Amino acid sequence: MVIRLRDWTYAQPVKVAGPEDGCQFYHWMDVPHPPPATGYVTVPGAWDLRGRFEDYIGGVDVAGKSVLDVGTATGWISFEAERHGAAQVVGLDAADDVVPQHVPYLRHGDRDRPATPAAGEYMPFRTGIRRSYWLCHERLGSSAAVVHGDIYKAGEHISGADIVIVGQILVHQRDPLEALLQCARAADDTLIIVEGSFETDQPVMKFCGLNGIYYSWFLLSSAMYVEYLRLLGFELKSVTKNLYRCTHADATPEMEIWSYVARRVGPTLGRP
Ligand SMILES: C[S@@+](CC[C@H](N)C(=O)[O-])C[C@H]1O[C@@H](n2cnc3c(N)ncnc32)[C@H](O)[C@@H]1O
Repeated sequence: MVIRLRDWTYAQPVKVAGPEDGCQFYHWMDVPHPPPATGYVTVPGAWDLRGRFEDYIGGVDVAGKSVLDVGTATGWISFEAERHGAAQVVGLDAADDVVPQHVPYLRHGDRDRPATPAAGEYMPFRTGIRRSYWLCHERLGSSAAVVHGDIYKAGEHISGADIVIVGQILVHQRDPLEALLQCARAADDTLIIVEGSFETDQPVMKFCGLNGIYYSWFLLSSAMYVEYLRLLGFELKSVTKNLYRCTHADATPEMEIWSYVARRVGPTLGRP
């Protein structure tokens, strides 16, 4: 199928001179030098997923498929999907007016500042991440598109994705179940959720925003994914766990991340 937008429009590319030109990198990226130079520069980010695409998306074949990359950040998933033969790639990331949902600590860590950013305080970081996306987009010669919107409205505005990849974004949402419902609505066939998780036969969610971790809310249990995905019209096909290199200050150097792959077997409530 072809991914279509309803009432949202694709973002326009931004010209970025190089990694030092106002960029913030979420993903570690090998950024090609501009022609006529050859080779690339490795730019550090928070997550080094290089060479791990198949693991990350649970071994799903994206060739010839339309792929929606929810929470694209620096865009590594989008660019890898393209490199692996996806027919169409669309990234979704937060629009200017989407305020990050933070655990409402008065103070966090030793930085002695309010945890919840005031209106607009998140924009410089978000702009920097977008700039890293556009730099990589140009240097990699990408044809991927990106739309700035809101995961909580994804199902209303985006349709026709063969594959929807929901990578490490649910943990940052206060209502991950609504966010996942919206992603399910946009998915015609395959839903891939890449996230921290835990094993239990109880369909539960665990709060993980303790100890000043203001940007994380919940992890869903393995049974929660099985049950909730079924309710959304999807059957869980595989679950894999892998370790990935993370250089984020609050993280351990190797983080265990789970990849849930589910296929559509029935309708999703509210899907046109
Ligand atoms: C932790 S990064 C995940 C990057 C990538 N998906 C991956 O798996 O490596 C989460 C991304 O989700 C975006 N995001 C957060 N809240 C959002 C929202 N409400 N709607 C759309 N994107 C959002 C953030 O801006 C950020 O780029």
